[in-house]
Amino acid sequence: MYDFKNDLQQFTEKFNRQLPDFFAYPQGLEKRVSEAMFYSLANGGKRLRPFLVCRTANLFGITEADALAVAVSLEMLHTYSLIHDDLPAMDNDDFRRGHPTCHKQYDEATAILAGDGLLTYAFEVLSNAPHISDNIKVKLCSLLARRAGAFDGMIAGQMLDLTTELSPELSSAATVKHIEEMKTGCLLAYAVQSGAVLGNASADQYAALTTYARGIGIAFQITDDILDVTGDSVKMGKTLGKDQQQDKMTFVSLYGLEAAKAKAAELIAQAKDALNIFGEKKQPLSALADFILSRDH
Ligand code: IPE
Ligand code: IPE
Ligand code: MG
Ligand code: MG
Ligand code: MG
Repeated sequence: MYDFKNDLQQFTEKFNRQLPDFFAYPQGLEKRVSEAMFYSLANGGKRLRPFLVCRTANLFGITEADALAVAVSLEMLHTYSLIHDDLPAMDNDDFRRGHPTCHKQYDEATAILAGDGLLTYAFEVLSNAPHISDNIKVKLCSLLARRAGAFDGMIAGQMLDLTTELSPELSSAATVKHIEEMKTGCLLAYAVQSGAVLGNASADQYAALTTYARGIGIAFQITDDILDVTGDSVKMGKTLGKDQQQDKMTFVSLYGLEAAKAKAAELIAQAKDALNIFGEKKQPLSALADFILSRDH
């Protein structure tokens, strides 16, 4: 029987062992910034996005080795989003992944540059990915830029997250769903969609995976919001209770814990349904959806 916990653990260990290979460049005095990049990238993290890239690609017979650079580049981009999310001008957090945040460990200017460095390096790694055709790499670069971007991607979601914090009258159920989907859902959607692009998925398969990705993406942020209230900060590796302290508009602040949990469960059930066209092969993605609902970290 498929054992999700073991699969994710093995995957994470291997992924982490391979990360230093991406930083093996000779460097002078400027190495402070790449050290800060590596500090935030390598120290912890559940690696759910790279896992999703690889397990989606596996559905189509693409090996983990061939999907690795795509997975690493996404984790770099995700880590940049965390470094900037934690900055004093944004959520002002001191802990991330069980360690001091990048600006606490280094300094604010270095953390800004480390985020910039990871964002740009992500695209370099992606465009140099071995064993992938140029055509697919161009598609992936364009999709990643869109999902991470300022129009209907992660940055747009982060902007709205800060705007509702400043103007509570802007918030409504639709706005909150939109924020959660953009600030978190978009990169999770890319994780799944990039695996589908690597595997040359048919239109039906791509649509099914997109439905799955949307469901888990919003549910993932809802459980992050729930855990911000009910979680254990050691297990989560970050300071909790921040959303209420900063008047963030979330599913939890809008509807309360129980309704937020029910919404997450509904989204996860819909996401899992969408995987049925893959038959038995759906196991890893289906188990990941269950994990999102039951997670405590
Ligand atoms: C944290 O993401 C930020 C959100 C989008 C909620 P994760 O919970 O996946 O963080 P890591 O990568 O495991 O540290
Ligand atoms: C962060 O959402 C989303 C991104 C980093 C894009 P949160 O601000 O809720 O994430 P945490 O709780 O700090 O991990
Ligand atoms: Mg935030
Ligand atoms: Mg935050
Ligand atoms: Mg949060």
